[in-house]
Amino acid sequence: MAKEIKTIGVLTSGGDAPGMNAAIRAVVRTAIARGLKVKGIKKGYQGLLNEEIIDMEAKDVSDIIQRGGTILGTARCLEFKEAEGQKKGAEICRKHGIDGIVVIGGDGSYRGAQALSRLGINTIGLPGTIDLDIACTEYTIGFDTAVNTAMQAIDKVKDTSSSHERCSIIEVMGRNAGWIALNVAIASGAIACITPEMPYDMNAIAEKIKKAHEAQKEHFIVVVAEGVNNSEGITKGIQELTGIETRLTVLGHVQRGGMPTLRDRVAASQMGYRAVELIDSGATNRVVGMKDNKIIDVDIQEALAMKKPFDTELYRVCNEITF
Ligand code: ADP
Ligand code: F6P
Repeated sequence: MAKEIKTIGVLTSGGDAPGMNAAIRAVVRTAIARGLKVKGIKKGYQGLLNEEIIDMEAKDVSDIIQRGGTILGTARCLEFKEAEGQKKGAEICRKHGIDGIVVIGGDGSYRGAQALSRLGINTIGLPGTIDLDIACTEYTIGFDTAVNTAMQAIDKVKDTSSSHERCSIIEVMGRNAGWIALNVAIASGAIACITPEMPYDMNAIAEKIKKAHEAQKEHFIVVVAEGVNNSEGITKGIQELTGIETRLTVLGHVQRGGMPTLRDRVAASQMGYRAVELIDSGATNRVVGMKDNKIIDVDIQEALAMKKPFDTELYRVCNEITF
């Protein structure tokens, strides 16, 4: 028989992402509407081990849907990777009467959730990361805001790039994945996009830029994913091979902040709602995701074993429509 759930906890873990607050709000409000009690766990698994646990009422999540960051705070916690830390975490949950936890974060955070589930605390994961690098879902909370922020920043760089007829190399985030780079490159009309998933040829990129220059193009934007780990080398190489003055802009953490877009607020609300439905029905060790624009849920073990194939079709579009 499924365990009866009376009190749930909610925490955010790993890197923050715009829309995490909208997810927290959906979890708190859905739980309260179903007669469950909610406890907010501050600063991820670290806050759980430090017993930074607060009661949450409906009003505690008022006016946060539009705010970036996470009102609960987030952290990376090495102690929770160890069996001892996980055991301590489960004991603290029991001490505070927490029957289940909604964990908003990425793959690393799901491993922690899986450990808690094995120790008898029901857990549900929600995909919160700007990187879009979680295999079991087509969407992750924060991605849309991050790519829009990056796109708007590149539009600005493009103005000065055009005035000076320079080449601009823009490094975007994404950890080991090129999803942000690919989408932002298309949306910015970049002449090239370099991601860790695809091989790249500096000579071919330089030739493309030189040809465009001869055809009177004024700006040359090359988007590089941070995971390529060679933005400075690429900047130097492009300048040497083209003879065009080249500058590097590293967008950095600006991509992680700011007001979440409509898409992130809606996805976070849908996913938060489903997480509570699942936990209230006694489900555990599952992660919520999106497939064909519908909310789905997947076993955490299966989710962690999945591989996300890169979108080579979109990559082709990116490379073939700008010259
Ligand atoms: P993300 O959740 O965004 O992938 P991390 O990989 O940094 O971010 O993981 C966030 C936190 O999840 C870690 O700081 C740690 O507390 C917990 N975690 C990560 N890996 C494990 C693991 N193998 N077992 C238990 N907990 C883990
Ligand atoms: O996972 C989100 C992310 O912003 C990645 O894109 C980036 O590689 C990493 O986190 C940066 O982490 P930190 O905030 O610890 O510098």
